[in-house]
Amino acid sequence: MTWIPEAASNLASKVDGLLLVITFISIFFFVLISAVLIYFAVKYRRRSDDEETPYITGNQTLEIIWTVIPSILLILLFVYGFVVYKDMRTPPKDAVDITVTGKQWLWTFEYYNGKKTLNELYVRQNRPVRMVMRADDVIHSFFVPAFRVKQDLMPGRYTQLWFTPTKIGTFDIFCAEYCGTGHSKMLGKVIVLSPEAYDIWEKGVAVDGGEAVASLPPAELGEKLYKGKSCNACHSVDGSVVIGPSFKGLYEREGELEDGASYTADENYIMQSILEPQEQIVKGFQPVMPSFKGILSDAEITAIIAYIKTLK
Ligand code: CUA
Repeated sequence: MTWIPEAASNLASKVDGLLLVITFISIFFFVLISAVLIYFAVKYRRRSDDEETPYITGNQTLEIIWTVIPSILLILLFVYGFVVYKDMRTPPKDAVDITVTGKQWLWTFEYYNGKKTLNELYVRQNRPVRMVMRADDVIHSFFVPAFRVKQDLMPGRYTQLWFTPTKIGTFDIFCAEYCGTGHSKMLGKVIVLSPEAYDIWEKGVAVDGGEAVASLPPAELGEKLYKGKSCNACHSVDGSVVIGPSFKGLYEREGELEDGASYTADENYIMQSILEPQEQIVKGFQPVMPSFKGILSDAEITAIIAYIKTLK
């Protein structure tokens, strides 16, 4: 079927099955009722000005039929829906936990082995995953159309969902709850790796969308990270001010901080701003940037700085 997203999880076929059954039944009754309506309107139309409308008090048989049949159908649909819902809400015992945090406007993932990734969720084909989710600020919603899963994330409360990815590939993650200016840019990717590729990834080889990136020149890697790690949600590269200062002409810029001190945007200033963003807020901006400590490696920070240097 091409009119719905690719089905890439164990839950997808169940959701699609339910959707198809409900859609088919709805179409069937829509056509049936519309046809009968049109037929009766023509057949029993008023033929002359003095024609009287017949007086009909009721038809018990008919009333029983049109009450009982829809009731049975609706109960069956409810049971079918409930069975699928229960399946989707009950993670299997052997599922591995991955913690998700939603934050304006990025996703962080923390794995059972202590690994952390940003906006890219790495999972192993055919291994069930339970996502334990929480928001840092406002309500977000984790939505993977290809897996047919969607669940809100809230501050102060854990929510969960689970799935078993069945197809190797890269699939979109959307935030499906309006969460502020950067909502439409709160995008991520689920990368489903084969068991062998997953083992390699677990051992810490740098991969980006399944491909190794270690060999890229720093400025190019920096540009990839700028998009991949959501820097672009808040920092423009064309001089326009979004949430934070633009990266254009940032390198070696001088200015004033919120606390009155002055700054020069050299390598150390940029590194500090990435690791401890609350420490040096540029005058006129809000302290909203999360720390990227543990998320970006030293080499990646160096690459981002190299990229910023190219933005004159
Ligand atoms: Cu997060 Cu919309």
